[in-house]
Amino acid sequence: MKSINLNITFEQYAGVEELSKSDQELCSSSKQALDSSYSPYSKFKVGTAIRLTGGKIVLGSNQENLAYPSGLCAERVALFSIGSTYPDAVIESMAITAQTEAFEIVKPVTSCGGCLQVMAEFERKQNSPIAVIFYCLNGEVLKVHSVKDLLPFGFVEDRLGSKA
Ligand code: THU
Repeated sequence: MKSINLNITFEQYAGVEELSKSDQELCSSSKQALDSSYSPYSKFKVGTAIRLTGGKIVLGSNQENLAYPSGLCAERVALFSIGSTYPDAVIESMAITAQTEAFEIVKPVTSCGGCLQVMAEFERKQNSPIAVIFYCLNGEVLKVHSVKDLLPFGFVEDRLGSKA
């Protein structure tokens, strides 16, 4: 038996103003994306903004459904929108934020496992890292420079989908 220690790296910022100008812009776009959240059941809005190489920013928000599992998280709404509209685009970075009137969100809200798996697939497809920023409107921001730091044990099977 071997016990293996895995290191992941993330950056913690006390406030959005500590980020670069372009990351600040992405965070404020993710806040703007909250406006289109359709979340009458959870009353929990999530907004995502994704920056493509070349600078284009694509927004997404959570879209709920009366049949609860039919809804979709903000991250996947934005990612699948890119996959279907700009299939050859390369994603540089994405920012995620959340808001609810039910309670105060005091820490950055991190993505669910399903969204992480989809982020990992985009990173694998484009063969370059995607930076992910979790932005708490109240202050703290977390940033990783690759989805690998969020999902080191994501599902990987390179033979699936290969032509051989
Ligand atoms: N939600 C997201 O949009 N992203 C996540 O990564 C986790 C949760 C949404 C789904 C649902 O509309 C609401 O947050 C409450 O779970």
